[in-house]
Amino acid sequence: MYKMELIGCGRISYKHVQAAIENKDKIELVAFCDPIKERAAERCRQYTDALEVDQNPLIYTNHLKMLDEIDCDIVAIATESGFHAEIAIECMKRGKHVIVEKPMALSTEDAERMIQTADENHVKLCVCHQNRFNPPIQKLRQALDAGRFGRIIAGNARILWNRDINYYKQAPWRGTYEQDGGCLMNQCIHGIDLLQWMLGGEMDWLNGTVGNYMHPYIEAEDYGSIQIRFKNGAIGNVEGTVCVYPKNLEETLTIIGENGTVAIGGLAVNKIETWDFADGKDTLEQVIAECNGDVENVYGSGHTPLYADMIEAIEQDRVPYIDGREGKKGMEIILATYRSSQEERRIRFPVDHIRSLDFI
Ligand SMILES: NC(=O)c1ccc[n+]([C@@H]2O[C@H](COP(=O)([O-])OP(=O)(O)OC[C@H]3O[C@@H](n4cnc5c(N)ncnc54)[C@H](O)[C@@H]3O)[C@@H](O)[C@H]2O)c1
Repeated sequence: MYKMELIGCGRISYKHVQAAIENKDKIELVAFCDPIKERAAERCRQYTDALEVDQNPLIYTNHLKMLDEIDCDIVAIATESGFHAEIAIECMKRGKHVIVEKPMALSTEDAERMIQTADENHVKLCVCHQNRFNPPIQKLRQALDAGRFGRIIAGNARILWNRDINYYKQAPWRGTYEQDGGCLMNQCIHGIDLLQWMLGGEMDWLNGTVGNYMHPYIEAEDYGSIQIRFKNGAIGNVEGTVCVYPKNLEETLTIIGENGTVAIGGLAVNKIETWDFADGKDTLEQVIAECNGDVENVYGSGHTPLYADMIEAIEQDRVPYIDGREGKKGMEIILATYRSSQEERRIRFPVDHIRSLDFI
């Protein structure tokens, strides 16, 4: 059994508790922390209501005190994004494995420090880009790895969502450069991560434009458009927004190759919509039956397999499926997009250090 502590018990934290419950043979949650004590108590209740536990987990309002007093193997971090780096580094220096929410950090330098700290302390660092585990996404990845597309021409990620004033009012950190970033960094980062992962990761340059059209009460963007040129010649296009009237429209990933076309949509890229390959090895009906499933909301169902992978990575002493180096790629694209938009020019990779704070 691996003992785990949870730092940050807000909106997304129930997914972490659910993932721990669904990996109950390997993970035991021993402490919950949030400066808002009731939130930590509520997550603890979620856990103890679902499982018979020998000893009730403890509740903390200060994560350093919790780390000092309660021993554990793994820490999950689901605080405001701007706190991720500092807390993760503290935990890893204490020899804890870390599962951190996306974006892993809000500056490239912080992301690199996190990666380095994990390496130096021989601990695993895993970033919650949970949609990589969606069965349709896994199926697409297998088709790519098997070379079924032939030459990859382009990929498109469209995240066309709605977030209104009530969403931003819930937590004042949302939409600030210090703690969050705009819709690209918060909502669209999963789609951007998937696009770069499918198109080969290695980038030549990008050109981005962002703007704030409908949310004057937030600092950062509510609409962004990115064109990415990959080293293998493929072009990636991203359109991401929270301005769509009156509700979420789509989250779609499309890959176009010389011998194949795939489009995955649904609430959280969980449904294959187009599956056409020249090799004729399978049909759309077959892959739909095999992979498509429903999800309760845009968070999808990926936290549970992500936790299972982390445990396996620890046991086999291998790199987690989405480690720090992988987690950095999506956030780096978004920071480069902010710079491209501000300076009205293409940004070439590798980039210098960029911080979201540069754009205040
Ligand atoms: N993977 C996903 O699909 C997904 C979905 C939503 C949010 N997120 C990410 O999860 C993070 C949290 O988002 P949220 O919507 O749950 O935010 P939230 O504001 O609802 O929750 C954050 C919580 O962290 C707590 N906190 C702050 N500092 C703390 C500390 N030092 N120790 C313990 N707790 C602390 C806050 O009091 C708050 O309760 C963000 O980084 C966000 O980008 C990821």
